[in-house]
Amino acid sequence: MKPTNPRLAKKHTKAPKKTLGEFIIENQNQFGYSTGELSRLLNAIKLASKAVNHEVNKAGLVDIIGSTNQINHSNEEQQKLDVFANQVFKRALINRQIVCGFASEEEDDFVVISSSKNNSQNNYVILIDPLDGSSNIDTNASVGTIFSIYRRVTSSDKPVSESDFLQKGINQVAAGYILYGTSTMLVYTTGFGVNGFTLNPALGTFYLSHPNMKYPSSGNIYSINEGNYFHFPKGIKKYIKYCQENKNGRPYTSRYIGSLVSDFHRNLIKGGVYLYPSTLKNPNGKLRLLYECNPIAFLSEQAGGAATNGKGRILEISTEELHQRTPFYCGNKAMVKEIDNFLKLS
Ligand code: AHG
Ligand code: MN
Ligand code: MN
Repeated sequence: MKPTNPRLAKKHTKAPKKTLGEFIIENQNQFGYSTGELSRLLNAIKLASKAVNHEVNKAGLVDIIGSTNQINHSNEEQQKLDVFANQVFKRALINRQIVCGFASEEEDDFVVISSSKNNSQNNYVILIDPLDGSSNIDTNASVGTIFSIYRRVTSSDKPVSESDFLQKGINQVAAGYILYGTSTMLVYTTGFGVNGFTLNPALGTFYLSHPNMKYPSSGNIYSINEGNYFHFPKGIKKYIKYCQENKNGRPYTSRYIGSLVSDFHRNLIKGGVYLYPSTLKNPNGKLRLLYECNPIAFLSEQAGGAATNGKGRILEISTEELHQRTPFYCGNKAMVKEIDNFLKLS
């Protein structure tokens, strides 16, 4: 008999990958309030994301691409998949009665969810961007879902109010995204690092594929819609020219998908920075603080990066309204610092 190849033997003894369900249960004791409520909530997100993934994969075959001819609160055209994804997440969370409030890019106002299970209300509110990068759907490019979770601040014997949603980003207890890309991934944090799970479509199960995600120590990608160049603040125009200079490891590489989730995910893995500055058309930028910037900023910081609005930390911005916008710079710490310096000096 041939001697066993030690490389193959090692392969066979490799521990099986952990499923997302197992990981959630194993880590639920990290919370101050480990009642299992947050675990159930993450499981509901997992389930809804599979339903959205299924539909996104069929786009082009069934009548799900294109516009609804309606506009949302931010004055943007709603796509059919925006509305579908919103309904799927809303139903998954409402039917399971695991949150006391729901807010979404696709809803004008927050939704109060009362629990009929017992007299006490649930303790968490969720804010979501059900389909991020929806202008990409018609072209079969990657889209995502972003979510942000807070523990309510009002008394749990009353229905939720606006103050439960308008909390600063630093109060988030969990945040994450689903990327419907070449493969489908769910990436999230509860403040103890960032972990990424890849969906095995044959089994319908997410497996831990990217444990403890961190930005590389340096980066060379910048992601910005340069078509708006003439409408950008002076500091950003200078920064773009700096990125293009042939000096000290530059020019940097320019990559922009137009889907925050996809652009952020690439920059997290390869090392880079995402910019959506103020423009003449959108003086406060375009991205929404509560369900786009705060959750992505939380993930960025947990992965060793940073996120600012050019003046300060995104997670410390005071919130005034549900659909509030902010300029957004997010990625490798050193690169975000460079941008902040360009903005300060201009
Ligand atoms: P959404 O599809 O949820 O409205 O978000 C789109 C956002 C963001 O994902 C993306 O990076 C940015 O808008 C793209 O904006 P521009 O087309 O102005 O570059
Ligand atoms: Mn979005
Ligand atoms: Mn959206």
